[in-house]
Amino acid sequence: MDRSPAPRRPLLEALRGRVVTPPPVWLMRQAGRYLPEYRALRARARGFLELCFDPDLAVELSLQPIRRYPLDGAILFSDILVIPHALGVRVRFVEGEGPRLDPVRSAEAIRRLRREGVRERLQPVFETVRRLREELPAGVALIGFSGMPWTLAAYMVEGAGTREFLEARRFARACPDLFGELIDLLTQAVSDYLAAQVEAGAEVLQLFDSWAGVLPEDEFDRWVVAPARRILADLGRRHPEVPVIAFPRGAGTGYRRFAEAVSVAALALDTTVSLPWARRALALDCGKVLQGNLDPVALAVGGAALAGQVRRILETMQNLPFVFNLGHGVLPDTPPSHVAELLSHLQSMGRCAN
Ligand code: CP3
Repeated sequence: MDRSPAPRRPLLEALRGRVVTPPPVWLMRQAGRYLPEYRALRARARGFLELCFDPDLAVELSLQPIRRYPLDGAILFSDILVIPHALGVRVRFVEGEGPRLDPVRSAEAIRRLRREGVRERLQPVFETVRRLREELPAGVALIGFSGMPWTLAAYMVEGAGTREFLEARRFARACPDLFGELIDLLTQAVSDYLAAQVEAGAEVLQLFDSWAGVLPEDEFDRWVVAPARRILADLGRRHPEVPVIAFPRGAGTGYRRFAEAVSVAALALDTTVSLPWARRALALDCGKVLQGNLDPVALAVGGAALAGQVRRILETMQNLPFVFNLGHGVLPDTPPSHVAELLSHLQSMGRCAN
């Protein structure tokens, strides 16, 4: 008879509102270019999207950081732009320049999007989730994710990543009804995509609204908060047990309106959010679990800069359910040894913090 105790699942415990010491940890972009084993696989693939749509490769890439480090969560290896791709938009990743998409800027272009069969075209992603769930160690929670409608629409209208997404904002301001049609169809696609990830085995979901911070208040409410409400209502009906982490990056004080309106379990804080403010306004007043918000630059620099930032975060988040993470993704020039350094700080400082 197997008498070993069931493994602890610290990430799920924290997301359900328990104070876990030291806090569970995973990192946005924990798989990626800072790892030599990622670069080796990437060099052999034809394009970046091929990595996302080949379950053998995507499983391997998701597991790479888990083999190296004692992380509490494994994020599915994919990209937010698989949804525009599945809607029939041509998406490519240009070396050193980021994503390029054929821009969607007219009623005709929106109506040409292939709304039927999206789930079928994303099957390889669900296959990756199924296999990961079988291969992950039991204590490591499997995190699925999606881009949110505003950020996806921003890339689709703009046709690329830019500093301010001016073309997308111009289109949204000039033709809000048409832009709303695009947001509505993305809201539906994102809801279905997330539900299918849960059905394939995802245990946590993270929602990336990476460009929430470029919108004025009225548009933040309309294009970020309202679609998130609909997606959470839909997920709550279909999969009420799955904790959801939302990341409306750059929202500033908008984080609070988001927290009041959207029934997510947790909020991922970007690097600019004041932690004492978040503790009060989002955790204590709104009951959200917090995640974040180590500066990726501190991780890239390491040493005393890293140790100091880790200590500050642990001290401020004491006695709260909390998930340690970065405020944005791991930078490609981060030495992999700094991640090990971060995890050992969490072990030593995390224990004496309470
Ligand atoms: O480890 C993980 O976090 C899982 C994989 C993951 C990737 N992208 C892999 C990736 C996740 C969760 C994403 C999310 C994503 N993708 C976001 C939201 C998070 C954020 O950063 O705000 C966004 C905006 C994208 C769109 C995207 N994908 C951009 C702008 C770029 C180019 C810039 C860059 O950092 O390379 C990508 C490419 C991409 N996505 C890479 C990886 C590992 C690098 C591709 C390469 O090898 O060239």
